[in-house]
Amino acid sequence: MARRTRNPLGTLLESPAVREAAGALLDAVAQEAQSRRLAPEAYARAVRELGRMRGRPLLYPLLVGRSGRGARVALADGTVKLDFIGGIGVFALGHADRDLLETAVVAAAADEVFQGHLAPGPEYLRLSKALLRHSGKHLRHVWLSLSGAVANENALKTILQKKAPADRIVVFEGGFAGRTTTLAEITDRPGFREGLPLRGNVLHVPFYDPDDPDSVRRTLDALDAHLARHPGRIAAMLFELVQGEGGIRTAPPPFFAALMQRCREAKVAVWVDEVQTFARTGELFAFRTFGLDEWVDVVTCGKALQGSAMLFRRSYKPGPGLVAGTYAGSTVGMAVGARIIDRLEKDGYLGPEGRISVLEGRVARRFEALSRSLPRAVGPRSGIGAMHAFVPFDGSAEVTQAVLRAAFDEGLIALGSGTGPHKVRFLLPVNVTDEELETGFTMLEKALRRVGEERDLPC
Ligand SMILES: Cc1ncc(COP(=O)(O)O)c(C=O)c1O
Repeated sequence: MARRTRNPLGTLLESPAVREAAGALLDAVAQEAQSRRLAPEAYARAVRELGRMRGRPLLYPLLVGRSGRGARVALADGTVKLDFIGGIGVFALGHADRDLLETAVVAAAADEVFQGHLAPGPEYLRLSKALLRHSGKHLRHVWLSLSGAVANENALKTILQKKAPADRIVVFEGGFAGRTTTLAEITDRPGFREGLPLRGNVLHVPFYDPDDPDSVRRTLDALDAHLARHPGRIAAMLFELVQGEGGIRTAPPPFFAALMQRCREAKVAVWVDEVQTFARTGELFAFRTFGLDEWVDVVTCGKALQGSAMLFRRSYKPGPGLVAGTYAGSTVGMAVGARIIDRLEKDGYLGPEGRISVLEGRVARRFEALSRSLPRAVGPRSGIGAMHAFVPFDGSAEVTQAVLRAAFDEGLIALGSGTGPHKVRFLLPVNVTDEELETGFTMLEKALRRVGEERDLPC
């Protein structure tokens, strides 16, 4: 009798017996977790203790429990909140998604807890292939890593090696690239590099300004001025196509295309940081949503990937010894990252008519309704796909923090973004439901009204 052939590199989740066993473990864990809720005082103590151990309190009193669902996160005391920031963009498909949990459990039962570059397993292969399915015809290589910052460091080293002795990097004002010493300098936030030594090789150009009809010309001129002042010394320009920490700011594709074209002419590498945009703008990669494939040399991604990666053209292959490291990622992270990509493909999330693009309109309509009822509390709004932000009241740091805190107390978790005006940011799960959106916006409305009343600000 012919036996069914199995793909030896396919996910073990395809086996009904394995899936059933994974489901049984998840059920047992969920049941046990029910009886492990912290009492309010114990919860407050645990939050304080965490802050003490870190030497800095948590931003929110937030200790996650084990039984969230969709956009709802369960805290360790059993409280449930609507999570519109998802661990800063990590929970692409929301909390406690059964299929992703089963994927995680099966991956966790394998031999390797973490996978290194020396001894990769099938999850490493599957995730690499999944990324290359989406990176277009030019980016033919991928290197996995743990955090977005490590992917960016790998990209930077790869570019600097190829372009040596060029050592300057052009970046946009307002950008964010990560928390290493070098990336803190590339990041345009003085507060994030206080006291750090600077190498002085970062050159800034203005980001797109929708209120300036000459915005493209102004930024091109700034780039040209740098090129003229540092002939042969500029290695790369870094593009964060939607500035996540910088206030969910983006630009029309021709703005980026004009700059990328100038980089190509000047032999400057085009490096796109998609750590925050990954899986949030319509396609897996924002540079493809924006139709910029032909210009891009190196791309990094992370967050929703459950790990991170650098993708690059053949001509950018790093020399041996330049990019390595013990860990490429956790086996669970790789398996779940690959599964998320499969789900986005199969369940219709990607493409111009896909669910992520449709979500953009759904969120826009919620914001329009909110600004009709609170016209003075809801200032300028920006967003694409599953990443959105708006300016509350006057956009001062203090009032924005007050709104975020009031929203948290109402049951909605969001995060700040931008440095002036300050904004309230949402990184939504791409499968957020209408009910979750409606409940979240109702909480936001209450929070805005409360801050307005407390501070005597007209709404
Ligand atoms: C655009 C961008 N690049 C890089 C990073 C750094 O990623 P990680 O925090 O995983 O190191 C972030 C994180 O917020 C980011 O938003």
